[in-house]
Amino acid sequence: MSRDSFGSRFGALVAMAGSAVGLGNLWRFPYLVGENGGAAFIIVYIILSFLICLPIFISEFVVGRRSQKNAYAAFRDLSGGSAWRWVGLFTIIVPLIVLSYYSVIGGWSIEYLLKSITFSFTGGESQSAMNTMFSDFVTSTWGPLAVHTGFLLATTLIVVFGIKGGIEKFSKVMMPLLFVIVLGIAIYSLTLPGAQKGVEYLFNPDFSKIDAKACAAALGQAFFSLSLGFGTIMTYASYVDKKENIMFQSTATAVSDLMFALIAGVAIMPAVFAFGLNPQSGPGLVFETLPFVFGQMPAGGFVAILFFAALLVAALTSSISMLEVAVAYLVEEKKFSRAAACTVLFVVCWIVGTLCSLSFGPLSHIKIDGGNLFDFFDNLSSNILMTLGSLLTVLFVGWRLKKTDVYDEFTNGGTLSRNAKLFGVLWFLIRYVCPLAIISIFISGLL
Ligand code: ALA
Repeated sequence: MSRDSFGSRFGALVAMAGSAVGLGNLWRFPYLVGENGGAAFIIVYIILSFLICLPIFISEFVVGRRSQKNAYAAFRDLSGGSAWRWVGLFTIIVPLIVLSYYSVIGGWSIEYLLKSITFSFTGGESQSAMNTMFSDFVTSTWGPLAVHTGFLLATTLIVVFGIKGGIEKFSKVMMPLLFVIVLGIAIYSLTLPGAQKGVEYLFNPDFSKIDAKACAAALGQAFFSLSLGFGTIMTYASYVDKKENIMFQSTATAVSDLMFALIAGVAIMPAVFAFGLNPQSGPGLVFETLPFVFGQMPAGGFVAILFFAALLVAALTSSISMLEVAVAYLVEEKKFSRAAACTVLFVVCWIVGTLCSLSFGPLSHIKIDGGNLFDFFDNLSSNILMTLGSLLTVLFVGWRLKKTDVYDEFTNGGTLSRNAKLFGVLWFLIRYVCPLAIISIFISGLL
C-alpha cells in the first residue's frame, strides 16, 4: 500500500502552520511576554526564532523528507542502522507526553467556549469572581476530565482519517478561519479606549528586563511554538512532496507562527490594559483575566465566543500533529492498522492527561520539584525534552549526515539556485551556531 501524503502545497503549508500555531501562540506567548517585560522579550524571541529555530526546523524537514519515514525509521535508516534510532524513538515519546497535558488545556478551551456560548462572562462580574470560576473549575474532578476526554477524542477522530483525508482537510478549513478570527479580535481590541498602553507594552522595548532566564524562556517558547524537537515537523515533512521547496515551506511556517503570536498579543494586551488589568497574571491570563475583560467590553459576549473557538481550533491543529508522530511509528514499524494505533494512543494519552488534570484538584498533594504533575510535564517537555530533541536533531544533521546529502535534499538535487546560495550559511548555523547557542542558553537558564 502506498504511503499517504499531503495532496497540495497549500495543504502541506497549512498543516505545518497548524502544528506550529496553537496554545503556544494564544495562551503561552502572551503571558510569557507579560511575565518577561513585553517588547524586549519579543525582540529576543524573534532573533532566536530565525537564527536558531529556523535552521532546526529545516534540519527536521530534511530528515523527514529525505527518509519519507516515521521519526524512528528516519533516524535509523539515515544513520545506517546506528544507535541514532533511539533519538528517533525519543522524538516519538515526547509528543505523547506533550499531547497528554496539552489535551487538558485543550479541554479548558472547550469548557470556556461553552461558558461563553451561555454568556457566563457578561454582567460585569469582578476579576476575583473570574479567578474563582477558573479555580473552581480546574480543581474539580469530573468537568475537566469530561472536556479533556472530548478534546482527545476529537484529536483522535481527525487523525484516524489520515493525512489527506483528516489532517490536511481539517487544517485547510480551520487555519484560514483561525487567522480571520484572531485578526478580527486584534483590530477590535485596538479600537478600545486606553488600548494604546497595551500597544506600547508590546512594542516599546525595555532591555533591562532581559536576563539569561528571559532568553531561556524565549528559546523554550520558540521550540514549543514551532513544534521543534519532538518529531512533529519531521513526521509532517515525511509526507511532503519531493518537489516542494524546504526553505520556502519552513520560512513560511516560521513567519506565520510569529505573525499569529504577535497578532494574539495585539488581540490580548490592548484589551487587558484598556481595562486597567495586570498583564503579568501568568498562565491564568487567558482563562481569568480575559473572561473579565470580555465581561466589560461592548459585544464582549460575542468576542468571547470567537476567542475561545479560535483557542480550541488552534489547539486541535497542533494536537493532531503530536498524535500523528506515534501513529506513523505504530503503523509503519509495528504494523498496526491506523484505527488500532489511534485507539491505543488515545488510551495512553488519556491516562497521563487524566493524572495531569487531577493534579489541580484531587491529586494536588503530589508535588514534583515544587509543582504539580501538570507543571512537571509542561516544564520537563518544553524546557528540557524539546531542547534536547532539537539539539540532537541538529547534531545529527550537522555531524552525522553527509553534507552532500543535506545539500541535495535542501536544494532538490541542486535545482533550487537560491537555496544553493544559502546553503553555506545554513550549514554553518546547523553545525556550530545552533548547538552552541542551545547549550549555552540552556545552561545559563539553569544558573
Ligand atoms: N506548536 C504548538 C503550540 O504552539 C505545540 O501550541
